[in-house]
Amino acid sequence: MKELYKTLPQHTYSWSLVIVTLYKYQGFWNAQHIHENTILAQSYEAQPSDVLLCSCPKSGTTWLKALSFAILTREKFNHASASPLLTTFPHDCILFLENRLEKIKENPSGLPLLATHLRYSSLPKSVITSNCKIVYMYRNIKDVLVSYYHFVRELVSLSVEDAPFEEAFDDFCQGISSFGPHWDHIREYWKASQERPDRFLFLKYEDLKKDASSNVKQLAKFVGCPFSVEEEKSGVLGNIIKLCSFDSLSNLEVNKSGKYQAYGIFGLEHRLFFRKAKDGDWENYFTDEMKEKIDKLIDEKMSGTGLVL
Ligand code: A3P
Repeated sequence: MKELYKTLPQHTYSWSLVIVTLYKYQGFWNAQHIHENTILAQSYEAQPSDVLLCSCPKSGTTWLKALSFAILTREKFNHASASPLLTTFPHDCILFLENRLEKIKENPSGLPLLATHLRYSSLPKSVITSNCKIVYMYRNIKDVLVSYYHFVRELVSLSVEDAPFEEAFDDFCQGISSFGPHWDHIREYWKASQERPDRFLFLKYEDLKKDASSNVKQLAKFVGCPFSVEEEKSGVLGNIIKLCSFDSLSNLEVNKSGKYQAYGIFGLEHRLFFRKAKDGDWENYFTDEMKEKIDKLIDEKMSGTGLVL
């Protein structure tokens, strides 16, 4: 395996002395241990009843996990004030396939939910043969890039001054980001969704923010737990939206101070998954030239999908 990595295209952020090198393997960029975990994850035996929550990092995965968990457990914890989400980090409620495979196999929650950042073509074959459902969360690419920049920067404890945004921008435009090229990730899921539309639900972060109610209802219906009229009237839907909102989750002690072990990184602070949650934060970072360059790339890479990014 070591020999293989010597032959792969690789990239290390020039502004960081500590970040792991990313390797391009089977078309996608990632750290070595994630490529290794991907290969292990491919042994997962998906069930037809599974629902896979898929996304590129920084597209709203934490929010999607919290919402899906709250939807599927609402009968068990029939009041939002009893939800495990109040004391458990959303990433510990629903696990990543490429991160906690052994635990997923044990399925401690008993829920059919699991998550992944893997690209579609890297998924276990059983995901396709089982015909299980897939929810795909995506977000304005420019905001994803800014969010990703801050996440990586904080991960390696660099100040904004020591981590020029321009370099992160150039890398991202070249397709170099964890699980990138970002556009290929979206395109692969979009293409698969064209072939099996009834098995896919595409959710856009910005739409979810604009109209949480109808998007959460759509999600609940898709995962097989639609809200009844009574539930809507009695505020169950509203309570879930409120519980999973950025303001609520980011202010919980568990999400402010806890630490997480993921993707081979020990002590990843939960708070890093809750930054600003603002649409259009990219405007504070992009020059006109950057905007023009990335818009052109997005148009080119996403053409024909109808997805507005
Ligand atoms: P920002 O960095 O723009 O603030 P992911 O969960 O895929 O890692 O994405 C992280 C992004 O989602 C961050 O964006 C984070 O603040 C935002 N986020 C986390 N929880 C959220 C929530 N409950 N509602 C909306 N956005 C949320």
